[in-house]
Amino acid sequence: MIETERRTDMSKPHWRPARASDLPAISAIAARIHPNLPERPEVFAEKMRLYPDGCRVLAADERIVGYGLAHLWTQHRIPPLDGFLEHLPGDADCLYLHDVAVLPDLRGGVARDYVVAIEDLARDSGIATLALVSVYATRPLWEHLGFRPVTADVELRAKLASYGDGATYMLRGLAAHA
Ligand SMILES: CC(C)(COP(=O)(O)OP(=O)(O)OC[C@H]1O[C@@H](n2cnc3c(N)ncnc32)[C@H](O)[C@@H]1OP(=O)(O)O)[C@@H](O)C(=O)NCCC(=O)NCCS
Repeated sequence: MIETERRTDMSKPHWRPARASDLPAISAIAARIHPNLPERPEVFAEKMRLYPDGCRVLAADERIVGYGLAHLWTQHRIPPLDGFLEHLPGDADCLYLHDVAVLPDLRGGVARDYVVAIEDLARDSGIATLALVSVYATRPLWEHLGFRPVTADVELRAKLASYGDGATYMLRGLAAHA
């Protein structure tokens, strides 16, 4: 019975605001999913402190099985991987999706939910553009969700370097409220 209930709960992961106490789980998932793109827990913690509205975890039962981190930022500027933001720009013109990562068994339909939540957050904040750096082979997924690659000039290419081969800077304009 207990196992059945657990399976039922596990089949319905949901996004909720990240708390400081989620940091170890976020770091553990990041280390597992991004072994070649390591970031310090303090770097995640800073984002959670600077822009808590954009930072969520995917909870299933009592487990954290994924996270999404986003913050206000400036278009065509890429925060260095594992670097501190120091502060958010006062004239932010985009919401930057730093990362969305979900444990393999729980994938399928959950990243979209996070992006929809971030989209709503951007609109509510008067922000009309989402930005991200696509890594690995995720570009088709982001294109499916409406993001378009930006042709990188020399400066942008240099900033993308820390994100590994194939990293692509992408933007998505948000349509005005219907
Ligand atoms: C990226 C990640 C979070 C996606 O999670 P997910 O739950 O599988 O994503 P979703 O199923 O919500 O996918 C979003 C949409 O993209 C679609 N999609 C998924 N893979 C796709 C692909 N290769 N090409 C085109 N569309 C794709 C999905 O069908 C879905 O569209 P739909 O809602 O219209 O059906 C997950 O794969 C992951 O953790 N990857 C490792 C970390 C990572 O690479 N993060 C991204 C850093 S930029």
